[in-house]
Amino acid sequence: MAEEIIDGGLEILKYPNPILKKKSEPVTVFDDELAKFVKDMFASMRAHQGVGLAAPQVGVLKKIAVIEYEGKSYVLINPRVLDQKGLNDEEEGCLSFPGIYAHVTRPEWVKIEAQDETGATHEYEGTGYTARAFLHEMDHLTGKLFVDYLSSLKRNAIKKKAAKNTGGHF
Ligand code: NI
Repeated sequence: MAEEIIDGGLEILKYPNPILKKKSEPVTVFDDELAKFVKDMFASMRAHQGVGLAAPQVGVLKKIAVIEYEGKSYVLINPRVLDQKGLNDEEEGCLSFPGIYAHVTRPEWVKIEAQDETGATHEYEGTGYTARAFLHEMDHLTGKLFVDYLSSLKRNAIKKKAAKNTGGHF
């Protein structure tokens, strides 16, 4: 019997929703409401087969993101990059751009700091796709989207495609 996936019930906004371009505010209150929101974000991300999800993608302009990759879960609240090294060019996607993937060059390795839903601070290191996921989600919190790294030619092609497809990643 297949494991039942329970959707967190959060609606994922699709490009070009203007909320996706806005900056998020830091989280200052670490309460039950925040813990429930984080739980709903994980559930909604899983229901859409995502690797990551950022709060602005569900219409909440707060510095909150969740990632689940290779069996590890990360809660990134008020995250910041502490260090980065190298470059890595790989294809990535986004739950706000269903079915659309593009090559983006990002650091190969990052060290970040983030709070969890209790307010505790953690450091995480990520290489390759994990680093990419950290940085992709952190970009969402400043209103930056992966298509912003592409040429205007590629971006325009994606705009046309954005309306039609389904699927997605981060
Ligand atoms: Ni995304």
